Order: sequence, then structure tokens, then C-alpha cells
Amino acid sequence: MTSIKLCVAGATGRMGSTLIREAITRGFKITGAIAAKDDPNVNKTLREAGICDLNVKIVDPSRIMEAAKEADVYISFTTPEAEVVNIPIVADLGKKIVMGTTGFTEEQMRKIRDAVSNKVPAVFSPNFAIGINILFNLLRMIKMFPAEYDVSIIEMHHSGKKDAPSGTAKKMGEIIAEAKGYTSVTYGREGISVRKPGELEILAVRAGGIPGVHEVIIAGPHEIIRIEHTAFSRSVFAQGALYAAEWVYRQDKPGIYSMNDVLGLS
Ligand SMILES: NC(=O)c1ccc[n+]([C@@H]2O[C@H](COP(=O)([O-])OP(=O)(O)OC[C@H]3O[C@@H](n4cnc5c(N)ncnc54)[C@H](OP(=O)(O)O)[C@@H]3O)[C@@H](O)[C@H]2O)c1
Repeated sequence: MTSIKLCVAGATGRMGSTLIREAITRGFKITGAIAAKDDPNVNKTLREAGICDLNVKIVDPSRIMEAAKEADVYISFTTPEAEVVNIPIVADLGKKIVMGTTGFTEEQMRKIRDAVSNKVPAVFSPNFAIGINILFNLLRMIKMFPAEYDVSIIEMHHSGKKDAPSGTAKKMGEIIAEAKGYTSVTYGREGISVRKPGELEILAVRAGGIPGVHEVIIAGPHEIIRIEHTAFSRSVFAQGALYAAEWVYRQDKPGIYSMNDVLGLS
């Protein structure tokens, strides 16, 4: 058991609230909770908001310094717009960071990286599930397939997910594109749309409450391989993020790290 102190941003969201409950069962201390300015739970305690049995007050982002003050690690699952504002403040405070938010533009991610990389150790990952991070490494073997084998990605998520394709599918796409030499991505097909050489295919499905399914299809002329990862619940992401928090807590060297570093796979 650990007594690492956490400030959680996006505390009332699907991931933030799951993470808080998981953190408590694992012995972490929650010392701060942040939600969006207009969130109806701002100024309530985590208990009053029905998240867990703690008197920690949920504050809006204008009070981020106060919320993060006592924390060893700041953990965030919010929106790209929120991270661009919040993460530089937290890095200036010298707090270690674990961030799982996805859907950034290149410019937003550049701003965040610039604000963090020389100041504090931080773990950024589009997917904290251990299985997915090992799968990222397995996908590098795709370079062994003959050129005529096509690779496609299908991802499925709940209908409330904002960004598409998922950050995980994008990361898989980067690895596959490097292995196969793909130079373009097609995100769906309609009408006459024959697959071109050099083209990676990524399809996104949004339905019901699916926490996350990613499937990689590798198809040659006479055979198909399908590799699927299914998250049973958000707990898998919460557990991985807490594992990252324990790891980053022990790091002194500023920089942006990945789950490969956390899992010792680099
Ligand atoms: N890396 C991973 O393993 C992983 C796993 C699952 C999800 N994710 C990503 O995590 C992010 C959140 O996902 P989710 O399903 O939890 O979404 P969600 O339920 O919409 O939660 C996001 C929360 O952030 C809050 N928020 C908005 N602006 C904020 C601000 N300025 N400061 C603090 N909090 C703010 C939102 O408040 P309001 O609702 O009041 O606007 C909401 O409660 C997404 O980018 C998703 O793709 C990553």
C-alpha cells in the first residue's frame, strides 16, 4: 500500500471518478479534486457529489494551485482545451504529472510538451491499459509481413466519447504506418472507394457504453489475423494510471515519459 497524495482533474468525469475510487482502494490519498467551471458539483465535496466517501472539496480550475498544493502527483483526464491551460500551471508548481487526455491538435500538444519537459517528470499516455501498451510493441512485428498484406484498425467506444479516432488508434496507426511504410490514412469509406497502396485504414464506432475495443486486422490474399483488445471497464485505465503515478513519484529527472518507460519496455 502507498500513501502518495493525488490531485485529480476531471474528478467528476467518467475516468476521473473511476480513478478516485480505484485510488482509494489502493491506499492513495486524494488531496485535491478539480472539475470544469460550470460543473454542478463544483464546491461540493466528493461525498456530496456521490463519488466516494471523502470530504475533499471539488474546486473549479481557477483554484488549481490550491487544489494541487499538497499533492505529490497531479492526475488528469479532462479535455485538450483544459489541459493547455492547467498543465503549465501544475508544471510551474513543480508537481509530477500523469495525463491521459486524448484528442489534442499538434499545436496543443506542442504547447503542453514545451511547458512540461524541462520542469517535471510526467507520464502521458493515450491508453494506460497494460495489455494495450504491450500490444503497441507487438505491432512493430508487422514489418515482417509481405507488402501485399493490408493492415486496418477498428476502434469502438461509448457514444459520449468526444474525439475520433481514439488516441490509442492513432498511436497504433503511427506504429503500423512506420512498419508498413503507409503515407496516408483513410477514416471511413463511402461510395466507390478502393483501397490505395500506402493507405492505412482506421474506422471509429461510437455506440452505447463501450469502455474501449481496439482491433487490428492484418489481411493477406488468403488469410487474416485479428488482434483485439477489450477493456472490461474503466478500471483497467485507472489501474494503469495509478501504476504510472507510483512510477513518476519515484522519478527526479524532468521529461515526458510513456507507459513503455513505466513498464520497463523502452
Ligand atoms: N489514457 C487513457 O487510458 C484513457 C482512458 C479513458 C479515457 N481517456 C481520455 O480521458 C479524457 C476524459 O475522458 P472521460 O470519458 O472521463 O470524459 P468525461 O466523462 O467527459 O470527463 C472529462 C471531465 O473533465 C472535466 N473538465 C472539463 N474542463 C475541465 C477543466 N478546465 N478542469 C478540470 N476538469 C475539466 C469535465 O467536466 P464537465 O463534464 O463539467 O465539462 C468532465 O468531468 C478523454 O480525452 C478520453 O479520451 C483516456
